[in-house]
Amino acid sequence: MERVKLGKTGIEISKLGIGSGTAHPSGYCAQALMDTKELAELLLFAFERGVNFWDTAFQYGTYPHIREALKKVKRSEVVIATKLTTSHEKDTIRDFEISLRELNVDYLDVCLLHGVRTGHELKTRFNALETLLEFKRKGKVRAVGLSAHGLSALKSVTQIPEIDVVWARVNFSGLCMDPCRHGLYDKLASVSWIKNSVRRFLPKKIIASVRPVPESQMISPDERKEVEDTLSIIHTQSKGVVGMKVLAEGHLRDEAQRALRYVRGLPFVDSSIIGMLNKDEIEENCRAF
Ligand SMILES: NC(=O)c1ccc[n+]([C@@H]2O[C@H](COP(=O)([O-])OP(=O)(O)OC[C@H]3O[C@@H](n4cnc5c(N)ncnc54)[C@H](OP(=O)(O)O)[C@@H]3O)[C@@H](O)[C@H]2O)c1
Repeated sequence: MERVKLGKTGIEISKLGIGSGTAHPSGYCAQALMDTKELAELLLFAFERGVNFWDTAFQYGTYPHIREALKKVKRSEVVIATKLTTSHEKDTIRDFEISLRELNVDYLDVCLLHGVRTGHELKTRFNALETLLEFKRKGKVRAVGLSAHGLSALKSVTQIPEIDVVWARVNFSGLCMDPCRHGLYDKLASVSWIKNSVRRFLPKKIIASVRPVPESQMISPDERKEVEDTLSIIHTQSKGVVGMKVLAEGHLRDEAQRALRYVRGLPFVDSSIIGMLNKDEIEENCRAF
């Protein structure tokens, strides 16, 4: 498996990373519903095939699985990326420290602001970004950035030198990718206090049932080009770029080879994280990469 440098962070990752946050109708992540040992075994199976890059998030519920897998590998041999949904210093410190504790590690490789939709939302979360940068100065995290859920957030990244890396949704079809304009659900979800209150008080199943279906989130070829052009600019600024939703949450499973070929051919995508739920998928995707 080919390894690449993630921007100028000094972090070396495999071209293929393994995700642990694939959406499931229950509102939980498909991987969080797996037995701890079962997902740990998949992470290690991928690791043995050269995949040293494991993606998680505070919200996914997969910290126990990753902690289990970490019992079998040297900490320095894997790159762990996590994400926080926080906006302010106090909750960022709290969730960052919980992450270290639950993963049983003393540093993270990458910590991202999770699911930023717009430039405006990014501004309201500067406090959280500042807090992550402070953790970076203390050596508790090696790189910081954001996972984007909207083109406007991606565009803002080009203006912020402190951002080391960006995770962005990219595939050949435009399905599940970052839109230029947002519907009501995304507009509400981009307001941090609304998002956090809803998460705290509403059952996951209800939140999942009102989420827009991926088919309604297909962006046009022009919008897709704008996302790709923006990622290209970000990459020329020596920031790391990681692709996600390469298989559009599985909707492109019948065209998997085409989807994998497409993302591998994008010069501005350093690595791609894919949700792989069994060994066959890991083997097939490792072969493709
Ligand atoms: N905002 C964020 O930061 C954010 C949001 C979402 C996800 N993520 C991260 O990005 C990762 C990737 O996103 P995702 O898992 O939602 O979507 P994805 O990688 O586009 O799709 C995952 C699905 O693709 C199918 N698949 C994988 N390899 C395949 C193959 N070789 N052939 C056929 N089907 C294959 C599997 O479906 P089946 O096994 O069901 O067929 C799997 O459930 C997540 O796991 C998570 O770590 C981050």
